[in-house]
Amino acid sequence: MTPALRVLIIGYEAVPFFKCGGLGDVLGSLPKALREINVDARVIIPYYLDIEKKYKFPKIGEYSIVFGGDIERVGVYESGHVYFLSNRKYLASINTRGRNKKIDQFAFFDLAVVEFSSFILEKKKWYPTLIHCNDWHTGFIPLLIEQRIPTLLTIHNLNYQGWGSREVLDLLHVKDEKVKELRRGVPVSEINVLGEGILHATAVSTVSPSYAHEITSNYDGDPIHLYLKRREKAGKDHGVKGIINGIDYATWNSKYDVASWEKGKKKNKEMLLKSMGLSDRPTFCFIGRMARQKGLDILVRAIDKILSKDKNAANFILLGSGMPAIEKMVKKTANTYKDNVRVELSYNEEFAHKLYAGADFIVIPSRYEPCGLIQMIAMRYATLPIASKTGGLKDTISHGGNGFLFEKESVSGLVNGIKKALAIYQSHSHYKRMVKSALQTDFSWNKSALLYKKLYIDILNS
Ligand code: GLC
Repeated sequence: MTPALRVLIIGYEAVPFFKCGGLGDVLGSLPKALREINVDARVIIPYYLDIEKKYKFPKIGEYSIVFGGDIERVGVYESGHVYFLSNRKYLASINTRGRNKKIDQFAFFDLAVVEFSSFILEKKKWYPTLIHCNDWHTGFIPLLIEQRIPTLLTIHNLNYQGWGSREVLDLLHVKDEKVKELRRGVPVSEINVLGEGILHATAVSTVSPSYAHEITSNYDGDPIHLYLKRREKAGKDHGVKGIINGIDYATWNSKYDVASWEKGKKKNKEMLLKSMGLSDRPTFCFIGRMARQKGLDILVRAIDKILSKDKNAANFILLGSGMPAIEKMVKKTANTYKDNVRVELSYNEEFAHKLYAGADFIVIPSRYEPCGLIQMIAMRYATLPIASKTGGLKDTISHGGNGFLFEKESVSGLVNGIKKALAIYQSHSHYKRMVKSALQTDFSWNKSALLYKKLYIDILNS
């Protein structure tokens, strides 16, 4: 018999309420897709003041938790299938300063989530049969819940792990011996929250099959892969499952289809270039956080190689914000190539839509990419990706089919990719064939939601 699938999905962001990155998109769209296939999926995120001010959702109740020596109240607010947990001291905003403060904040949230399961049973006669955690922010939950409810931990980015002082365990009233890494005695003073999540969860997954393989193989020498190895050795499950993300076709509601895209692209490109003061040339864009992961240093070197040889080769429009040093570097490139390069240093969803719709190609030079959503969104908008051969990029792009792949971190690889793109752009038939294939690739949640459902069932049956 199929077990009852009542799944509580936990994260620190969810579209449309609050978004920092791709995790927010996933938490906004996956639960909807799951509900369509009869999984009762509900979501919990913190009730940040920004959400409270904007939405003013109704309060459905509150409960207490003991955090360290203090009794704290947690307010519960609700909108549809999403619950918001509120506490002025710990959950008013994301505290990004101070590693221990960050850890304490999410320790509080995780403890509040664990207590929430009793609250919601009393309040609504509903209880989760499975808790689906996401990233290190939820890494204490499997440890705290101690298998009373099975847990799945999905890793969206293994590079963010949540290191901090083990004193956080006192706040959670957790004894050292419960913590697997501390029990081994190394390191004694520090705790790795994601690592503990990996060791304690009933099952672990990540957001693409290739990334699952990368992080369990060696993962650039990062010791975190040892946690994953240790799980395998303990025979806890059959390794880390990789399930590729989908995108929400309602948000990315491109009107382009195989018959109409050329007309639409032409119009949108004209508007885009006009608004940017650029001439009509093949146009490449970049959209993303300006972080080391995203490989902008590789992109600016490639731009330099292309434009220093031929000023008329292409336009480049870069959108995103992040590390000041990276922002400075891309601004410098825009100053050097005033006729061809534009940089918009902000987080701007509206402009992103215009770029997807108006650019011919999107460059994704990530050093690693667990899944990546922008290549899928771009393809919905008839914009072909040129991307590093890594993680989810490798799993969603077929080289020469619906985009181009190059060896990660290779400037000459990217330059060749851009040159190939320029060449097929000239030979119309080849270009059109590729765009058609991109538009026809299915990136909806349909397939992946079924894979999650199957994984939930496997976990409950194990
Ligand atoms: C993280 C990853 C990205 C992935 C997203 C959603 O932001 O870096 O590759 O698409 O999570 O899973």
